[in-house]
Amino acid sequence: MNFSDVLTRDAAAIETRLMGALQGRADQPVVHAMRYALRGGKRLRGFLVLEGARMHGLTDAQAISAAAAVEALHAYSLVHDDMPCMDDDDLRRGQPTVHVKWDEATAVLAGDALQTLAFELLADPVLGSGDVRIALVASLARASGAEGMVLGQALDIAAETSAVPLTLEQITELQAGKTGALIRWSAEAGAVLAGADPAPLAGYATALGLAFQIWDDVLDVEGDVTKTGKRLQKDAEAGKATFVSLLGLEAAKARAAALIAEAEAYLSPYGDRAANLIACARFVISRES
Ligand code: IPE
Ligand code: IPE
Ligand code: MG
Ligand code: MG
Ligand code: MG
Repeated sequence: MNFSDVLTRDAAAIETRLMGALQGRADQPVVHAMRYALRGGKRLRGFLVLEGARMHGLTDAQAISAAAAVEALHAYSLVHDDMPCMDDDDLRRGQPTVHVKWDEATAVLAGDALQTLAFELLADPVLGSGDVRIALVASLARASGAEGMVLGQALDIAAETSAVPLTLEQITELQAGKTGALIRWSAEAGAVLAGADPAPLAGYATALGLAFQIWDDVLDVEGDVTKTGKRLQKDAEAGKATFVSLLGLEAAKARAAALIAEAEAYLSPYGDRAANLIACARFVISRES
């Protein structure tokens, strides 16, 4: 099966798990908004969880709740990222953003509840022993909180009004937080579930996460809205600090390609078992959405 088919299959399984988790919940706008925000998306983070688990001999059933968890957490981050106080976007995954379709209060609350849904999913006994589940809960909390994604988002917003442009080192730190931390958690989760050493996957994911955000910033400049499903050409005017703003488009692309070569090198301990992760890395810097 080629990578695109694997991703499509995994995305469908993750969506089923997420919709199942919300089945029978209150018939309320906030729950409707949660379902709405969860739909679509590439499910790259969820794929990384499932693939990491498969590489360690686990079945999809043993990992799907963790894959759904990180996608719920990611969906929350997007709902809040799009709000007027953050990036002020009206289009996400080809649809009006949650605060546009409902209102700001519903977007805040749906995001909040998507975040708690993530941790509820990680408590699923199917994931394994209490120790394993607590390790995943603690690491996702750290990856998404004030030392991880939230920190990166705060640095991203602060950079918009910074008097001096950020250095490459500062942009790398910002992006390692806002995007890298969840991608790294996702790539490590399968090894954690299997009780294996996540170190090679962590190295892979650190390089992959940075390349992923550089490509997101490239798409902002030269992407097609009908493919990305979100508004483009916004970062420069908003004053976002990105590899593209600092280095220019071509140098940013070259940097992303070098990071992908670095990511692949970390996979050598896995031999042929890493084929899908290698394909995933190449997808990250060739994708149109
Ligand atoms: C978008 O993430 C936000 C970033 C961290 C760049 P994705 O490009 O993975 O968005 P979806 O989940 O596919 O919609
Ligand atoms: C968003 O980065 C990162 C998170 C949501 C944590 P961006 O602001 O660049 O993502 P898009 O371009 O809106 O998807
Ligand atoms: Mg943003
Ligand atoms: Mg944004
Ligand atoms: Mg972006």
